[in-house]
Amino acid sequence: MVPVLPTPTVRPRRLRTSPAVRALACETRLTPSDFLLPLFAVPGENVRREVSSMPGVHQTSVDELVRDAEEAVALGLGGVLLFGIPPDKDAGGSGAYAADGIMQAATRAVKAAFPDLLVITDVCLCEYTDHGHCGVLDARGVVLNDETLPLIAETAVSHAEAGADVVAPSGMMDGGVAAIRAALDGAGHVQVPVLSYAVKYASACYGPFRDAAEGAPAFGDRRAHQMDPANAAEALRETDLDVKEGADLLMVKPALAYLDVIRRVKDRYPELPLVAYNVSGEYAMVKAAAARGWLDERAIALEILLGIRRAGADRIITYHARDAARWLRERGV
Ligand code: PBG
Ligand code: ZN
Repeated sequence: MVPVLPTPTVRPRRLRTSPAVRALACETRLTPSDFLLPLFAVPGENVRREVSSMPGVHQTSVDELVRDAEEAVALGLGGVLLFGIPPDKDAGGSGAYAADGIMQAATRAVKAAFPDLLVITDVCLCEYTDHGHCGVLDARGVVLNDETLPLIAETAVSHAEAGADVVAPSGMMDGGVAAIRAALDGAGHVQVPVLSYAVKYASACYGPFRDAAEGAPAFGDRRAHQMDPANAAEALRETDLDVKEGADLLMVKPALAYLDVIRRVKDRYPELPLVAYNVSGEYAMVKAAAARGWLDERAIALEILLGIRRAGADRIITYHARDAARWLRERGV
């Protein structure tokens, strides 16, 4: 006998019947200004070299980088995040805080050309040290925390001096935000905010970036300062400390394997802007699958960006920034 089934009166499908109705029920939206675009400055002129593990991402000389910044402006992106590859490296990473260093030159050039474009600078020593570590080392090769602090503080001040709108320390040194805040304030840059990489994991997803930034550690790894991927409660501890030290904005990095952490940090500090870094390995995975026809790049990239926003990130650093902005435009956003 066929049972008589109740007819549903409550029907979620009513809100999915057409694009217009779906738009009415849409909870999370993406706009180009959500996206921050990483750019990599190298010495020279007319240099534009594609990073082999990151199709569509280039190392560029400052003149070419300004062209990319122009595109960022035209597409309405939220800003650019600058990284620098210096001509020479040494044990103390002196290129990071040289007044005429590559980051300082790139920052000055972009701000001169596009004063209204937000420029965030990555503050770390790993691209500038000959050993590729994020700070100065002791005889055994351990990254020294307190000895590194004055160097990243000096780096941040030199970026502010070059016109950076925001400085972003990425080295996971204890006390880093406080050191940078004190140095900025002491140098008269009280209005320059610190975007803290408060929660940065020792992830396998940074490989392609290390090709782009030429900052892979010559030996060892970064597990003595970056966080253990197993830990989430500790992420809140890291966040609390950075907020106490004066962080103006927070970051969680990477994004995809850490969406729970993004949500927890957002719930803990709903009043602070939260940035998620959709890192190089996450981009490379999408690119590799798309190149084989295994995934639809546009659909998957927008779905990933939406997921990161839905998890609680207000802004996303992404290598897909330009393409995503174009796709949204085409869709009429
Ligand atoms: C440097 C730095 C890294 C990234 C941003 N800043 C690499 C690292 O910690 O080894 C990774 C970004 C990415 O993978 O896209 N401290
Ligand atoms: Zn580093």
